[in-house]
Amino acid sequence: MSDLSYRGSALDAETALALLQWQAELGADEPCLDEPIDRYDEARAAEAERSAARAPIATAAPQSAPRPPTPAAAAADALAEQVTIATRLAAAATTLEELAEAQRGFDGIELRKGARNFCFADGNPKARVMVIGEAPGEEEDLRGLPFVGRAGQLLDRMFAAIHLARDAVDAERALYIANVLTWRPPGNRRPEPGEVAVMLPFLARHVDLVDPEVIVLMGNTPCQAALDPQVIRQGILRLRGNWTTAFGRPALPMTHPSYLLRTPAAKREAWADLLSLSARIDP
Ligand code: URA
Repeated sequence: MSDLSYRGSALDAETALALLQWQAELGADEPCLDEPIDRYDEARAAEAERSAARAPIATAAPQSAPRPPTPAAAAADALAEQVTIATRLAAAATTLEELAEAQRGFDGIELRKGARNFCFADGNPKARVMVIGEAPGEEEDLRGLPFVGRAGQLLDRMFAAIHLARDAVDAERALYIANVLTWRPPGNRRPEPGEVAVMLPFLARHVDLVDPEVIVLMGNTPCQAALDPQVIRQGILRLRGNWTTAFGRPALPMTHPSYLLRTPAAKREAWADLLSLSARIDP
């Protein structure tokens, strides 16, 4: 009798050898330990170790680390900075010549790179009436003067009908003309809000220095630039002919001469607006 036993029963050597061979055939060909090994525990321990190794990386970045700004936020910051610079430059100008120089040199507007000429103003700075348009077109860009293309020729005829002219020497009968933008937008596209925002401090100072009695806002863009956001929601076709306030002065929105060239039927209302202007300055 051997001293081997299996589940409490004694085993003879032959049976024990047969069992061993049978286990080897099943693949249990390594010696076993006294204590069983739980392979699931091993896997769990390995995972815990890997997590611990990762943990310092996850906590390395402090919770409060500033995130890089989104492109939109970065663009808004850049715009705000340019508006601040424009405001400072405009406020420092004490004459129209100084203002024109400051505005011409201001490089916070991309349009400057694509335009041929700086287009500041035309007419008599002593005029009682200041007309504000949108932006130079092709002809204006070529000549460096506002409203000298087809729309400008119509504008001259309109104001001539109430005896006002840009070349009048007499301040009583003179016009002064400027635009919201001094550089031509490519392809005559509408000015973008950011372009209007950076030019607005210059325009406000321009109005201050000319000190007109009344302002005529020609079309949507100058209305959007100069009027209260609540007011401009209505659009030029509703605003036109209704006296309002812009830059602290009486202002008359009118439809733009380009619109009148495309929509001759609207000239009747434009004529009514001109008569209203005439009555205001020649009561
Ligand atoms: N339209 C404008 O608003 N301004 C110009 O100078 C020319 C066309």
